[in-house]
Amino acid sequence: MFVCTSLTRSSVAFRSSRTLVLVRYAQTAAAPAPEPKIKKFQIYRWDPDITGDKPRMQTYEVDLNTCGPMVLDALIKIKNDMDPTLTFRRSCREGICGSCAMNINGGNTLACINKIDTNTSKVSKIYPLPHMYVVKDLVPDMSNFYAQYKSIEPYLKKKDESKQGKEQYLQTIEDREKLDGLYECILCACCSTSCPSYWWNGDKYLGPAVLMQAYRWMIDSRDDFTEERLSKLQDPFSLYRCHTIMNCTRACPKGLNPGKAIAEIKKMMATYKEKRSTAI
Ligand code: SF4
Ligand code: SF4
Ligand code: FES
Repeated sequence: MFVCTSLTRSSVAFRSSRTLVLVRYAQTAAAPAPEPKIKKFQIYRWDPDITGDKPRMQTYEVDLNTCGPMVLDALIKIKNDMDPTLTFRRSCREGICGSCAMNINGGNTLACINKIDTNTSKVSKIYPLPHMYVVKDLVPDMSNFYAQYKSIEPYLKKKDESKQGKEQYLQTIEDREKLDGLYECILCACCSTSCPSYWWNGDKYLGPAVLMQAYRWMIDSRDDFTEERLSKLQDPFSLYRCHTIMNCTRACPKGLNPGKAIAEIKKMMATYKEKRSTAI
């Protein structure tokens, strides 16, 4: 009697699971394929290795049903499935490395955290960061930007280095908090390349990204070279080409405020100059 009941139960279970599979199969088979959602991307192209190649915009059509949500997903899909010659930088894919900075629909931003505009009636336009020399397609030449960053000596400097490596350089909680909003910069250059002053004087004006990092080291309580750092920015260009237009702060994809940092350097500079003039 017991065995018989058990068999009956298992056959019922078998029958019902088979029925479930059939129903699922029927449902899957009946599900209509989603309508393609074709989005057009117009992308800046230029290849210096092709003799006589002129910069141009090239259009690609991407079905958003088969693509991730971010602009970088579309670029990777285009490169993988349609055109392996399309060139751009990317690494972390989560807004940390700063390498995918480009101009998307008129604004400088990071392609990996910028959502595709799903309105398929609008074409998305993608250019390299503005007013930079172009290496190829969406890859800007960052040499000048990095040289400027190097020039501000973006590291801790001590007058007495005898304790280096022997003990920690401690900081109060309050002093550490002063670095918030500064240390998070990923050096993507979205701010500097949206700054009109940097467009016209990028060879001599340091630009918002580099100046914000200069400020980050000036106010670090562990650094001993604040005055020397200020002294290096006294010429008419390095700092003073900033006219507080604030494009930089609007552009920052990390929500930082380089315009404010520059204003703070200008205040420190005023105090520094006054101190120097009274000392003479
Ligand atoms: S505030 Fe200064 S650095 Fe920022 S965009 Fe304006 S001029 Fe450039
Ligand atoms: S301040 Fe913002 S926009 Fe400028 S380099 Fe840093 S992260 Fe990029
Ligand atoms: S890929 Fe690193 S910030 Fe976009």
